[in-house]
Amino acid sequence: MSNFWPGDAGMPSEEPVGEDATDEVTEFQEPEMGHAASVADWGAKPILDVRDLKMYFPVKSSGVIRRTIGHVQAVDGVSFQVPAGGSLGLVGESGCGKSTTGRLVTRLYEPTGGSIEFDGRDITTISARSLKPLRREIQMIFQDPYTSLNPRHSVGSIIGAPLAIHQVVPKDKILPRVQELLEIVGLNPEHYNRYPHEFSGGQRQRIGIARALTLQPKLLVADEPVSALDVSIQAQVINLLQDLQREFGIAFLFIAHDLAVVRHFCPEVAVMYLGKIVEIADRETLYNRPNHPYTQALLSAVPNVKQAAIGGRRERIQLEGDVPSPINPPSGCRFRTRCSLAQEICARVEPPLLQIGKRHKVACHFAGELGHHPDRPITASLLGVDDTGTPDPGASPATDLGNEPGYSDTWFDLERKTMAKA
Ligand SMILES: Nc1ncnc2c1ncn2[C@@H]1O[C@H](COP(=O)(O)OP(=O)(O)OP(=O)(O)O)[C@@H](O)[C@H]1O
Ligand code: SF4
Ligand SMILES: [Mg+2]
Repeated sequence: MSNFWPGDAGMPSEEPVGEDATDEVTEFQEPEMGHAASVADWGAKPILDVRDLKMYFPVKSSGVIRRTIGHVQAVDGVSFQVPAGGSLGLVGESGCGKSTTGRLVTRLYEPTGGSIEFDGRDITTISARSLKPLRREIQMIFQDPYTSLNPRHSVGSIIGAPLAIHQVVPKDKILPRVQELLEIVGLNPEHYNRYPHEFSGGQRQRIGIARALTLQPKLLVADEPVSALDVSIQAQVINLLQDLQREFGIAFLFIAHDLAVVRHFCPEVAVMYLGKIVEIADRETLYNRPNHPYTQALLSAVPNVKQAAIGGRRERIQLEGDVPSPINPPSGCRFRTRCSLAQEICARVEPPLLQIGKRHKVACHFAGELGHHPDRPITASLLGVDDTGTPDPGASPATDLGNEPGYSDTWFDLERKTMAKA
């Protein structure tokens, strides 16, 4: 690896310590990016293929004999792909299962169900011994640059530790490699013997990124890598990640709670709600023609995509209440307790994640662009139920509404109510 952006205008030289931690941001603004938005290579082979992934955490009773009395359904049947060298954004409110999904992909957790294929290998249940080489190939960047770095270790030992553990380079080559990595992430290579508290938040996040790069991973799971940073610093860090992706062909699963953050970086975005993907599409479709009421509400809160999302009107769609508990999620559609469009069928039947465009899937019985949601459920005939969700004995439900990752060549045309082909 070499330093590939000397003099990059987007890179900070010496941010004063704590600078980005003190500025208060009162309203979210989309970070102003110096780079062009990432473009998709739709023909790229997936490096990550996740099918029907589930993570149920047991809930134990108190007392001496701790029995399992329920489960937190943190991730419940999630399917997606990340193309090699590309990036998928994963977005949703707090508690919807984003970090759990990221930790499953990095195999920090053993999934309750489903499968994870990485670079053609099934890694769902691989042994601890096989996990060690995998750790080199999939790395994680954490949200909080203040707690994710050990304050007692120098930057040199934080970044150098993976090199020593994995014996990637001889001992005497570790320091030069650490310095090279510091330079790559835009930090002064002479600062390897400083401690995390001597750096600002943005600089610490660069240290976290350098640590994640140490083993030259193929996939980076970036769990809210900029949400703890000031807006002006967010743009610099996203530009840095974009540079790294272009230079080294690293694929990203980019997790954020805000649609504005992933828009620039991710040509494809999945929206999660209470452990499930409710809408997934290419960037243009998701931001300009969202079909799920939840995505529409999230988008209406983003200032500069608001108008497009709500058809030129400026009002914000208020999401009432909090995300319900994943221990006992609502029946049918999990969003129904907060959805202004909810009808009887929504409580009785779970909407399938239905492909409704070339690269667009949505899980809603009343999917449609804002102001154009249908009066009757689009899913009823496909599911073999009537408009209230009661099974229709004479119906022949579709059998191919599986929870497959990726997109099919055929999809359900909302206008014509029939299957369409590319
Ligand atoms: N180890 C665990 N044991 C039990 N429950 C857990 C565990 N980790 C997460 N959860 C629960 O799973 C749900 C999803 O959590 P997760 O951290 O994945 O959400 P998130 O989308 O990353 O939220 P945030 O935006 O706040 O980071 C939450 O209800 C959380 O309380
Ligand atoms: S299925 Fe029903 S409750 Fe769920 S998002 Fe659609 S309209 Fe709302
Ligand atoms: Mg999280």
